[in-house]
Amino acid sequence: MKDVDLIVIGAGAAGLMCAGTAAGFGKSVLVLDHAEKAGKKILISGGGRCNFTNRFAGPANFISANPHFCKSALARFSAADFISWVEQNGIAYHEREHGQLFCDESARDILDMLLQPCHEFGSRFMLNTEIHGVEKHASFVVKTDKGDFSAASVAIATGGLSIPKMGASAFGLRVAEAFGLNVIEANPGLVPFTFTGKEKERLQTLAGISLDVTVSNRGTAFTEAMLFTHRGLSGPAMLQISSYWQPGDSLCINLLPACDVRALLAEKSQQRPDAQLATALSEILPKRLVQLLFDADLRELRLKQLNHRQLEQVLETLQGWSLKPNGTEGYRTAEVTTGGVDTNELSSKTMQSNKVPGLYFIGEVVDVTGHLGGFNFQWAWSSGYAAGMAI
Ligand code: FDA
Repeated sequence: MKDVDLIVIGAGAAGLMCAGTAAGFGKSVLVLDHAEKAGKKILISGGGRCNFTNRFAGPANFISANPHFCKSALARFSAADFISWVEQNGIAYHEREHGQLFCDESARDILDMLLQPCHEFGSRFMLNTEIHGVEKHASFVVKTDKGDFSAASVAIATGGLSIPKMGASAFGLRVAEAFGLNVIEANPGLVPFTFTGKEKERLQTLAGISLDVTVSNRGTAFTEAMLFTHRGLSGPAMLQISSYWQPGDSLCINLLPACDVRALLAEKSQQRPDAQLATALSEILPKRLVQLLFDADLRELRLKQLNHRQLEQVLETLQGWSLKPNGTEGYRTAEVTTGGVDTNELSSKTMQSNKVPGLYFIGEVVDVTGHLGGFNFQWAWSSGYAAGMAI
């Protein structure tokens, strides 16, 4: 006995994509969510304008224990497919740097677009519904505070752990574990770094300064803006690298990635040999940063006085500044969660569990995490579509 063909748990980006797709193919669909409204993260994303995809989205923009896993779903429903759907709906959008696409008006346009096929093809929504568990008998039974519901298939689309106050929960990971699926340790991703003690006090003096840097960690590097905050380091460069960072790691920061500093200092030294190092550096970096990086003894040296060892020290500091965060701001502010349901447990074509036929995992709950810039929504669309087509 089954009530519906498909129960989708989680009315977020991936869940709505899956529900609308399956309903469009004639499946009866029930969408359950404990939140009072669907798509809450979509509505607040991109400062209310939703960075809904990235024109250049490809497998290289995703982090996963198996970097090949995302390829099939991304090919079946690509950024270009989502963009053409947006265009068919007459939603005005614009492109920002690095191929990021945002709505001109409001993220609400994207949510309405996702809800449209759900409503047109009769998906039923039950919001404000606490889910107690998922069981498999002849069909799946989802137990809730509003009764039990059965379905031939269940898609878990409960997202990651980021922003618990918006309803994020570990529900999807617990369901995976309960069915014997392996889960890769979850961690906050796309999240600012924090510092403690003396280092925090030192960095606080720079709060508000933003500059383009190249930050590297564990063999990965990003060149984008870094922002000093009252708590530590933020800005796109830091958010990006945070998804790779492990506690205890030091970050290596090139403060002048677009500059041949050695040649520049040689030129300045020739033109103005009596200029102080601090004066020369303050022409290319914020003065407060120069003061923090170098002791007065070095700062006050005239360019002509710099010996080889001192020059190398200056270059090393500017191009390989090492900082060791004590942690991150955690799930409270993280934009995503790294880790999740092990992709070895799932079909890359359909997102169905290999061990439990009929059970699907889509979106952020899966161990596929996008870089900053619209990639996480693209994964939600691609994985939601893959499952919705297959069910
Ligand atoms: P999503 O979080 O969208 O949905 C999960 C749903 O499951 C929610 O409706 C939740 O209420 C429900 N749920 C959770 N636990 C449950 C339970 N126990 N019982 C019932 N329901 C439950 N990405 C991007 O590409 N571009 C962007 O501009 C942004 N901007 C952005 C801003 C902010 C502030 C955040 C926090 C995140 C972003 N992101 C983003 C990331 C993006 O929002 C995220 O990756 C996707 O929403 C993931 O889609 P999912 O459907 O997997 O989860």
